[in-house]
Amino acid sequence: MLINNWYVAAESADVVQGQPHGVKMLGFDFVLQRLSDGSVACLSDVCIHRGASLSKGACHGDRFACPFHGWEFDASGACVKIPSMGDDFAIPKRAKIDSYPTEEKYDWIWVFLGDLPEDQRPPVPNLLPEYDDPEHWRVTRMVIDADVNWQKFEENSLDTAHLSFVHKSFGNRLSPKATLVPIDRTAYGAKVARERVPPKAEVKTGVLASLLSEERGKTQVELEFSILGTCHRIHPTFRPGVSQVTFASSTPVGLHKTRQFGLQARNYAIEPQFDQERLDGRRQAIMEDIGVVTTVRPALGPTAFRDELLIKADEMESIFRHLVMRMIDFGWEIDSEKVEREWNHKVYVIPSPARRLDPKGWVHEACPMTRPRRDDGWQVLAAELSKPEAAE
Ligand code: FES
Ligand SMILES: [Fe+2]
Repeated sequence: MLINNWYVAAESADVVQGQPHGVKMLGFDFVLQRLSDGSVACLSDVCIHRGASLSKGACHGDRFACPFHGWEFDASGACVKIPSMGDDFAIPKRAKIDSYPTEEKYDWIWVFLGDLPEDQRPPVPNLLPEYDDPEHWRVTRMVIDADVNWQKFEENSLDTAHLSFVHKSFGNRLSPKATLVPIDRTAYGAKVARERVPPKAEVKTGVLASLLSEERGKTQVELEFSILGTCHRIHPTFRPGVSQVTFASSTPVGLHKTRQFGLQARNYAIEPQFDQERLDGRRQAIMEDIGVVTTVRPALGPTAFRDELLIKADEMESIFRHLVMRMIDFGWEIDSEKVEREWNHKVYVIPSPARRLDPKGWVHEACPMTRPRRDDGWQVLAAELSKPEAAE
């Protein structure tokens, strides 16, 4: 699991004023709160006094109040009140908790889990412009928990060749050949436009069946991913003017558990009564994916490329994996096995931007990484991706 990336922590609607909201990401616990100005604060959820969970406490105004001894922390993570010592007590300098940058987009709360300063942080990914065009696009939303590793899950979404075998409702087993067209590099990932042979019309059900009942040609599919935000967009055009965009971002909850935040925009049947049908179709497809990804070995990525036999049809997944490996090279991979080994005795936290400015004087230690840190990673990646041949 990688630090220094944006992750979706929650649906915006689930984080309200006056109520701490706990989430687990990258194997660590966090607490969110909506502040009086409408923005969202995110802190490590482990109190630096004696380790209680702030998400089980309360919000006092814009402060997080710990349930154990009532210490209060402001949105920056600074302790501002220690009730047992009275108002005159000088609060110790180490009484502070890591706090993380947040942003809202697509009515999701994104959190930057890492310590890069603002000028080195890339923006939240922007892969779904249809979200802001409700006149033409109807959006449904879905959150799915899967007992699979985030990288395996995301690689599956970029894998076009599996459709013919895993998804009967939109794959065609009789026409499994992939169209091998050049892949374009983007600012933080890659994109490709392919076509696929749709299944027979009788396989389709619901509103799409009635729209697509007559003879039609191939389905045009644009696929794009961004390592920034660990997200992808799949945009099939079933026939001219009839298309949908599925956009999803994967948040690693732990090494073997992923929460996928998904949106689907459609430009057909945009009346709300068709939402449930689309949600059911999407859920079925994801369950089919999870069914096969849970059987994949090894359960975690990345493996060395030579440990699998990747072919030209797997090129999108290969590029994704290459980028993950680059981020590991930058020293952004958490040494999760060490963290787990020491879990019963030691609290580690994801390092925050404030910790980087002032690395000393924190109660909890920053989590160990698998490699030495290199902090200009996003700049290095952006330069590499603008010169694709240099990235190979
Ligand atoms: S453990 Fe949080 S105030 Fe004591
Ligand atoms: Fe799939």
